[in-house]
Amino acid sequence: MQESVQIGLLGCGTVGSGVLSILNANGDRISARAGASIRIRRIAVRDVRRQRSVPVEPELLTADPWEVVRDPAIEIVVEVIGGVHPALELIRAALESGKSVVTANKEVLAKHGPELLELAARRGVDLLFEGSVAGGIPIIKPLRESLAANRIKAIVGIINGTTNYMLTRMSREGIPFEEALRKAQELGYAEADPTSDVEGYDAAFKIAILAALAFETPVQVSDVYCEGITRITPEDIRYGQELGYAVKLLAIAREDGGRLDVRVHPAFIPQSHPLAAVQDVFNAIYVRGDAVGELMFYGRGAGSLPTGSAVVADLIDAVRRRRSGNGHFRVSGEALAVRPIEETVSRYYVSLKVVDQPGVLASIAAAFGEEGVSIGSVIQKGRLEDPVDLVFVTHEVKEEYIRRALEKIGRLPVVRYVSNVIRVEADV
Ligand SMILES: NC(=O)c1ccc[n+]([C@@H]2O[C@H](COP(=O)([O-])OP(=O)(O)OC[C@H]3O[C@@H](n4cnc5c(N)ncnc54)[C@H](OP(=O)(O)O)[C@@H]3O)[C@@H](O)[C@H]2O)c1
Repeated sequence: MQESVQIGLLGCGTVGSGVLSILNANGDRISARAGASIRIRRIAVRDVRRQRSVPVEPELLTADPWEVVRDPAIEIVVEVIGGVHPALELIRAALESGKSVVTANKEVLAKHGPELLELAARRGVDLLFEGSVAGGIPIIKPLRESLAANRIKAIVGIINGTTNYMLTRMSREGIPFEEALRKAQELGYAEADPTSDVEGYDAAFKIAILAALAFETPVQVSDVYCEGITRITPEDIRYGQELGYAVKLLAIAREDGGRLDVRVHPAFIPQSHPLAAVQDVFNAIYVRGDAVGELMFYGRGAGSLPTGSAVVADLIDAVRRRRSGNGHFRVSGEALAVRPIEETVSRYYVSLKVVDQPGVLASIAAAFGEEGVSIGSVIQKGRLEDPVDLVFVTHEVKEEYIRRALEKIGRLPVVRYVSNVIRVEADV
């Protein structure tokens, strides 16, 4: 008879119920792959009386997550509660007591990943977190294992489904930010408080995790430059389209000259780039390795079953590794300095509202020139209106210089105001 492994589940919401559905549907196959029969022994939730979307034996439920973590029969804890507290303390305690932990918690990982990985390695157990970034898309394991022969040069991801959905609708239908947000909320893609998604914080947690793994260096979330999509207008999108670009909220981690660029911001990318084809709530992560070249991972970045798929795969891995005692993974490389955003280099889309009179273009071009910014293309719209739109795309330039040039341009009497500045990632 096959031996069994006892599992404790912390949380039975969207992801937790996905995990149970998958174990119910594919249990025999999963146990065969794990080399042991997987048994859910205890499930912690906030409200034990709440109706669940999957059948759950009532006697498995408890409102005390510590009961799960302290149960000596439980070998592996699956944490899908979310948030930092008490998830962090529960994960720590589980690892301390020699249990392996599988989690989908990006916030805990982004803020406390290196410490927790160190603890897991010290205790000789696993901390696995495939579900924490891009839901069902396998990216953590490929970075840790399949791409281990490479030096990773860059990761560029669309890793927030809510904002990708909103930008897709804004691009297709020309609707403004507020309307796209309302539609995303109606469909349950955006929460009542959408701050974490639209301001880019959710993507910042995820890129902090990916950067730490890819570049084997601790990355503080506070080091991730972060800019959301709230200022993107239908006008900008239309001008970008005319120039051959699509707008995306990109999460970027790149090593260059021994320093790390790690940032989240909206950017124009060429319409021909594979990331431009990533529509609606889908996610994708583009990876460049020195040996493998370019790869793209594409799929559903959230949802009960997709995220459950990643969590159960980790669970299978954790069971196997407890039986075979495979090596452990740490983020313990030398810390790479993070490049301040002012020192990063990019092309920029700049849209201005200007008065329509002779010499305007020349005075603005001169101001760009004085700060070392050279212009790649110009679009002028709405002649005889006041103000008119003037759109520039620069060549590559340091952010510091473009900021200086824009300060100067904003003060020119012919310029009403700078309506937007969006980075153009032409060579992602
Ligand atoms: N949703 C996704 O598509 C997705 C994708 C990738 C990663 N994740 C991550 O997965 C984690 C879980 O997300 P989710 O969407 O499944 O959340 P959720 O639907 O809100 O579920 C959270 C579960 O945790 C339980 N819970 C909360 N606080 C608790 C506490 N103090 N003690 C015991 N149980 C507690 C809740 O109990 P009640 O049911 O009784 O309230 C609920 O069952 C988060 O870290 C999230 O970032 C989610």
